[in-house]
Amino acid sequence: MIIVLIGYMASGKTSIGKKLAEKLNYNFLDLDAIIEEKENMTVTEVFKEKGEIYFRKKEAFYLNALLKSENKTILSVGGGTPCYSGNMDVLLNNKNVKSIYLKASLTTLVEKLMRKKAKRPLIAHIETKEEMTEFIGKHLFERIQFYNQAEIQVSIDNKTKDDVVEAIILELF
Ligand code: S3P
Repeated sequence: MIIVLIGYMASGKTSIGKKLAEKLNYNFLDLDAIIEEKENMTVTEVFKEKGEIYFRKKEAFYLNALLKSENKTILSVGGGTPCYSGNMDVLLNNKNVKSIYLKASLTTLVEKLMRKKAKRPLIAHIETKEEMTEFIGKHLFERIQFYNQAEIQVSIDNKTKDDVVEAIILELF
């Protein structure tokens, strides 16, 4: 099985994924980290030097490659991954994949992303909390239709990372 964690930026896909992998004795992979390694550039540099379309192509390419080569793996993907290139259908149509949506409220996301926007090219330029709320509100509205297709959904609001890991394990087995 490959467990794929999806959700908006800063919903904890990477940190929760690592904990979950440890607990289940699975490998852990992060799609953004793989793109950075293969392209020998940070995600921010890829966006800046090659553009978002190039990034989306690479994202789909490495996602498909990983789904073919990996097993017993927790894979955290980027916030946009399920929303481009038919990637959500790819996940749903693969019998070896379990998709999990780490669901966060707008308030939680705004609070976290005001602190963690620097390495995220889509929101790094946003300065005020009001602008951030408006941007994420609209963006989430566009993306939620993809996230909501995940087989399992777990809320992260007001939970510790360990609580979320426990909630995921309860849903999985
Ligand atoms: C993106 C999310 C990022 C990264 C890129 C684009 C998005 O990953 O893939 O900056 O479109 O939401 P995280 O969700 O890990 O921040």
